Amino acid sequence: MPRVYIETYGCQMNVSDSELMLGVLAREGYSAAAEPSEADVVLVNTCAVRDHAEQKVLSRLGELKQVKRPGSVLGVVGCMAQRLGPRLLERVPQVDLVVGPDGYRGLPELIARARGGERAADTTFKNWEHYEDVPPVRETATSAYVTVQRGCDYRCTFCIVPMTRGPERSRKLTDVVREVTDLARTGTTEVTLLGQTVNSYYDGTHDFAELLRAVGAVESIRRVRFTSPYPTDFTDGVVRAMAETPPVCEHVHLPVQSGSSRVLKRMLRRYDRDRYLGVVAALRAAVPGIALTTDIIVGFPGETEEDFSETLSLVEQVGFDDAYTFKYSPRDGTPATRLKDAVPDDVAGERLERLIALVRRLARQKNVGLVGTTHEVLVEGRAKRGEFLQGRTRTNKVALLAGRDSWIGEYRSVRLTGTTGSTFTAQPLGRGQELAVVG
Ligand code: 5AD
Repeated sequence: MPRVYIETYGCQMNVSDSELMLGVLAREGYSAAAEPSEADVVLVNTCAVRDHAEQKVLSRLGELKQVKRPGSVLGVVGCMAQRLGPRLLERVPQVDLVVGPDGYRGLPELIARARGGERAADTTFKNWEHYEDVPPVRETATSAYVTVQRGCDYRCTFCIVPMTRGPERSRKLTDVVREVTDLARTGTTEVTLLGQTVNSYYDGTHDFAELLRAVGAVESIRRVRFTSPYPTDFTDGVVRAMAETPPVCEHVHLPVQSGSSRVLKRMLRRYDRDRYLGVVAALRAAVPGIALTTDIIVGFPGETEEDFSETLSLVEQVGFDDAYTFKYSPRDGTPATRLKDAVPDDVAGERLERLIALVRRLARQKNVGLVGTTHEVLVEGRAKRGEFLQGRTRTNKVALLAGRDSWIGEYRSVRLTGTTGSTFTAQPLGRGQELAVVG
């Protein structure tokens, strides 16, 4: 039986795509290897969103060269593969094949050709490709990623993704519901719906509001999450569907990118500061206690100190539960590389530090305020340091609790007892006390 090892970098969509690739190869008789050195095929599923992500993969490919067995195949797949295509074969001699996100169906054939000594790249976009017939091979049972939309039709000027994942396409609602129903039958109780701008989902008949309601109605699905939404695609209908579908969790990751309307315009985001704040207000009004997280880029071309201070003030005004913060990284071929007034690296670095400090302070303040409240957590597994279990609240907060392995995959009521500022310690509640659970 041939064995494959897949190493995944980047976003949740890549995790989901790796499950898909395992599915494609499982149909051909492959099983998963525990180590790259034990595999006949090693695939590195890559990210291209920032230069740093690509540098990490390049150095990892150097390490993998050392453990590569004679006759084994090393492939680079995903967004960096799509971006560089055959150039990657020229640049990294130990790489045998390069396959973009729409080419995974062809992996068995490309692997066979690589075995025959042929090095090949497939980076053709297929705007019909949903991998509908491929059953993903998932590692976890309780919680599952379900890709509902591939590609992106938005044109944010900083972003490489439209060039690496191709045009936007949504799966049929009935296909998604069938997959979730099958998952629920085999013990899945939490699903995370994935798409590049997931709430712009439209299958020709049904929109994202209908999708949320349909997935939320699947028997024994207890939690529905989705990522990443686009701010202005929170229509009234979507917000109402969130509020009226009990399994939909009280957490939204809502990338803002900047708090300055001037910068947002240059980024070709489809909202200004006020519009974004309006979306935040609508979500908070409809879903009490909702947690909000975000992505922010600092040092975008032309960003002045004044623009940056508007980002700081927006972060303070919203009071995010957490934020992923990035220094702008120019990506070849994206419109922003043609903008003037690049921000010097030391200035961007210093802004990033100030932003991180503010994000941490606000998150701590928020989390300290939650100590003493009660929540339902899904117990996900043992925490890294072993002696505790790790649970997650509906609002996506991580809580460590003492308990038995048999609780893994179950839901427990807990009281939050302390916080590091970002994660919590929690005390499981006995029966009877559970009636007091909120949030
Ligand atoms: N430079 C820095 N950050 C970027 N992101 C996307 N493109 C870039 C870039 N060129 C960030 C955005 C996005 C997140 C996934 O990555 O904040 O929301």
